[in-house]
Order: sequence, then structure tokens, then C-alpha cells
Amino acid sequence: MSVVEKAIQKLRTEKRSIGAPGEASAAPSTDAAPVRPEPGAPRGSGSRAPASGIILDRAALRAAGLLPPDEESGVLAREYRKIKRPLVARAIGRGVPRAANGHLIMIASAVPGEGKTFTALNLALSLAIEKDVRVLLVDADVVKPQLSREFGLQGAPGLLDALHDPSIDPASLVHPTDVPTLAFMPAGRGAEEATEFLSSARMQEIAAALGEGDGARIVVLDSPPLLHTTESIALSHVVGQIVVVVRAESTPQPVLLDALKALGNHPAISLVLNQSRSGGTSGYYYGYGVEGADATAVPTQQ
Ligand SMILES: Nc1ncnc2c1ncn2[C@@H]1O[C@H](COP(=O)(O)OP(=O)(O)OP(=O)(O)O)[C@@H](O)[C@H]1O
Ligand SMILES: [Mg+2]
Repeated sequence: MSVVEKAIQKLRTEKRSIGAPGEASAAPSTDAAPVRPEPGAPRGSGSRAPASGIILDRAALRAAGLLPPDEESGVLAREYRKIKRPLVARAIGRGVPRAANGHLIMIASAVPGEGKTFTALNLALSLAIEKDVRVLLVDADVVKPQLSREFGLQGAPGLLDALHDPSIDPASLVHPTDVPTLAFMPAGRGAEEATEFLSSARMQEIAAALGEGDGARIVVLDSPPLLHTTESIALSHVVGQIVVVVRAESTPQPVLLDALKALGNHPAISLVLNQSRSGGTSGYYYGYGVEGADATAVPTQQ
């Protein structure tokens, strides 16, 4: 049985999934910088984006379903700690050889609504407390730029603008946040022909630039669903690691297999089972790796 098949089998044996979104998880509350409301600043539903940087409005992000309720924060923090460990190792070469472009981590899923944006934000927050690591969260979901909207930066210049216009310095599109080690790049404008742009040499150039100048910068990219769009596949060729989010008891096995096939021979794919109760003491998340060339793994919970 292949590693992928084993992983799928694990998915199938999951017994209980969490009901409504928002019930299931917890955010790394210790990761969180305090909310500093800034009256009068322009705002999205989940944050404010004043010139000085984005101030994460955790209450609004929670209300938008992108952060879990306070009471679940400890559990989620523990789960993300396990999930991020192998990702960081490969990204910056901590204890293992550094993966090619391993610092570029794409959060993907087969179909919409599996928890990509939730995972991208919570993983980025968790990574941001790692020692000697800086994190750039990129809204590469150019089809549905939810993070840009929640951060009050919908329609602001971002990734797409840099792709369209080689004279734009990608660094100029990066916004600091009130978490000192976390920055954000919005999706930008001009989604037409995004697939071609995302697979272009310019995208490679931007990806290289995003990791530059900061030896330990990890870039987390939210993305559109693999089977519903072509943009994600284009993006997958640029990144060094892919986290495929699978919603427990929701995604049919053949659909997940199709998505994994679409990713081809990518050497570093990990699966995260989202909104599941089985598999560990905390009972909320259960992650495991799918092997590519070697064992990249989101570790099991116990
Ligand atoms: N672990 C979780 N705990 C609680 N709620 C969650 C969890 N993961 C996702 N959700 C909820 O599920 C819904 C879908 O999540 P999210 O928007 O992150 O999915 P997505 O894969 O980004 O969707 P799309 O493809 O439409 O962009 C949201 O309402 C979110 O709040
Ligand atoms: Mg999303």
C-alpha cells in the first residue's frame, strides 16, 4: 500500500468530525499580540490596515471564523506546534537538510471550504513565535482573497500587481502587522490570466525576492482550491512545501486523490486533517505526512 493510500485510509477511519465551523478548534492565544484598536483607521471586517501596519482585530477574525474561540486556544496551539515543526525544519534546515524553496509553504485543498485560509492564518501566527523565524503571509488566493478582505486590504496593490508589473518591488507590497515577526502581502488586482502569471518566470523571481534579505523568513501562501481552479497548480510549481488541508468526513477519497495527483511529483506534500476529533488527547486535529521523495510529515498527534 502506498503512503498516500495509507494516509487516505487513516482519513477514512476518522470517526467523529466536528460539527459547525467555529466549534472545533482553538487558536494559539499565547502567539497572539494584543489587539490595539486604532480609532478612525480604515478597516476590513477582521483587521485595520493603517499606514503603520495591520492591527489584527482578533475578535473580528474570530467572528469571521478565521480564529477559533478563546477557550479552544490552548488545544489548537498545541496542534499547530506539532504541525509546524517539520515544516520549519525543512524550511530553514533545522536538523534536516533545507528543502529547495522549503521556506515557501503553500496551503492547499482539493475543494473549497476545507479550511485553507483558517490554516494559513493560524499556522502563520504559530510560526511567528518560532525563535529566529520571520513569517510573511501571502494572500495567493487570487480567486477569493479572503485574507486581504479581512485585513482591510481588498483591492490594495499586492501579488497580482507585482506579477503584472515587473517594475514593482515585491517588498513594497508587504505590510507589517502588530505581531512584529508577521507581515502580510495582499492578493492585489487583476486576476485575469493569473494562472499564466503565477507560473511565469516573474513569479519565480518574486518568490525568490520574498525569501531574500531575511535568512529565516518563511512564506505561507493561502491559495485557491486545487480542483476548482488552475491557479493553485501553477503556484505549486513554485513552492517548496505544500500542506493539503482535508476537511474530516467531508472530502471524498477520490476527490482527495485527484487533488494529490494534480500536484504530481511534488517532493514535499503534507496532509492536515482539519476539524476532526479523533487521533489524540486533544481530539481536534490529526495530522500526518504524505511522502514525496522523503518523509515530510505533519506528525501524528500522539
Ligand atoms: N479547524 C477549524 N475549526 C473551526 N472552524 C474551521 C476550522 N477550519 C475551517 N473552519 C471554518 O470552515 C469554513 C471554511 O474555512 P476556510 O474559509 O478557511 O476554508 P477555505 O478552504 O479557505 O475555503 P475557500 O476555498 O472557499 O477559500 C470557515 O467558516 C471557517 O471558519
Ligand atoms: Mg480560503
